[in-house]
Amino acid sequence: MAADRRGKAETLALRRRLLSDSCRLFYPEDPIKIVRGQGQYLYDEQGAEYLDCVNNVAHVGHCHPLVVRAAHEQNQVLNTNSRYLHDNIVDYAQRLSETLPEKLSVFYFLNSGSEANDLALRLARQYTGHWDVVVLDHAYHGHLSSLIDISPYKFRDLDGQKEWVHVAPLPDTYRGLYREDHPNPAGAYASEVERVVNSIQEKGRKIAAFFAESLPSVGGQIIPPAGFFQEVAEHIHRAGGVFVADEIQVGFGRVGQHFWAFQLQGEDFVPDIVTMGKSIGNGHPVACVATTQAVARAFEATGVEYFNTFGGSPVSCAVGLAVLDVLEKEQLQAHAASVGSFLMELLRQQKAKHPIIGDVRGTGLFIGVDLIKDEATRTPATEEANYVVSRMKENYILLSTDGPGRNVLKFKPPMCFSVDNARHVVAKMDAILTNMEEKVRSCETLRLQP
Ligand SMILES: Cc1ncc(COP(=O)(O)O)c(C=O)c1O
Repeated sequence: MAADRRGKAETLALRRRLLSDSCRLFYPEDPIKIVRGQGQYLYDEQGAEYLDCVNNVAHVGHCHPLVVRAAHEQNQVLNTNSRYLHDNIVDYAQRLSETLPEKLSVFYFLNSGSEANDLALRLARQYTGHWDVVVLDHAYHGHLSSLIDISPYKFRDLDGQKEWVHVAPLPDTYRGLYREDHPNPAGAYASEVERVVNSIQEKGRKIAAFFAESLPSVGGQIIPPAGFFQEVAEHIHRAGGVFVADEIQVGFGRVGQHFWAFQLQGEDFVPDIVTMGKSIGNGHPVACVATTQAVARAFEATGVEYFNTFGGSPVSCAVGLAVLDVLEKEQLQAHAASVGSFLMELLRQQKAKHPIIGDVRGTGLFIGVDLIKDEATRTPATEEANYVVSRMKENYILLSTDGPGRNVLKFKPPMCFSVDNARHVVAKMDAILTNMEEKVRSCETLRLQP
């Protein structure tokens, strides 16, 4: 088969020689060579089947036949840039607008989440005439220079924080400043943003935008308390800035109850700009920015054309439309709600059984299992989380960690993930954690012996 022209060791050696070490592999000590994907499964060159619990890009399932067919059919007819009239781009914009609040009615098409966030930054700056950005701690918004600058997750390891970037605490009610026992965590975390806004203004600086993932994923699968975004938006709007909701990882029905994760905050919350990517093309490079007429008009007023060679091409839009069709036809949002709550319930039973599980949080098929050293300090159990991930791989389950402590096991599988998959994963996790606890107990016994 073309995808497996050489043995795994030879591919690895070639990759090491030809690609930068900055391009990392999963499981670097023993990488997997994947040659095929279908639904929620990936297959290696020997034909072994892995259950994919983390790839939120293959939203409706790896290589979904309807999405593949849509790309193929459109590829046979036409693929060109968006400067000619074509039905696909307007059909796609129309379909997306039906999923969003009415106010978000202007669309730009791009190729990646990073491009979408970079355009959001340009739109915000043009509309407000301001420059500065407020972000949540530990956030990641993309790999372009502009976005590394607003991604504490990255800039902390590089040349640090620019003077125009301001970081507000992550609204993490498990390990953050205000926790589950706080009477009003949404208000308390929003007051922290207000403090940041005030200190920016005291310095004579002006805010263009507040950027946040609607559910901070790199931050550790965080569920911000409902009402937080509304209060933040008030503070940001008062300072003349706009609210950008990054839905690149979490949108498109993943959260189950709603199509967009920002809707978890309440019906009354509408961002000024929404950015989308990853899942919306199911693996094909499709991304989008949705915004208001007012923001778009301000951007147009410069007279400068917005042109993107590949963004919004007939093929990209055909793929985007097919993803929406599959979501609807297979009722994947409702599926994510029911399978996600089943998985959460199983994981909560695990929490009652294994003290290493400090918290199970999530909604739909966006779930985090926070592993801790002990309940009193909630210190991240980083090595243990890595151990679980590598043992899961031995069991042909692909899982990964997130969060500043890299201790949160994250679930964001293709949306076709099933109840049986949930049962299987949790049974394996239970066995691994039980075995880990037995090992710790026997070490303690040895240590206690004179
Ligand atoms: C929340 C978030 N925003 C933006 C991006 C950037 O998207 P891309 O890698 O498609 O440029 C990512 C990628 O991981 C992301 O997780």
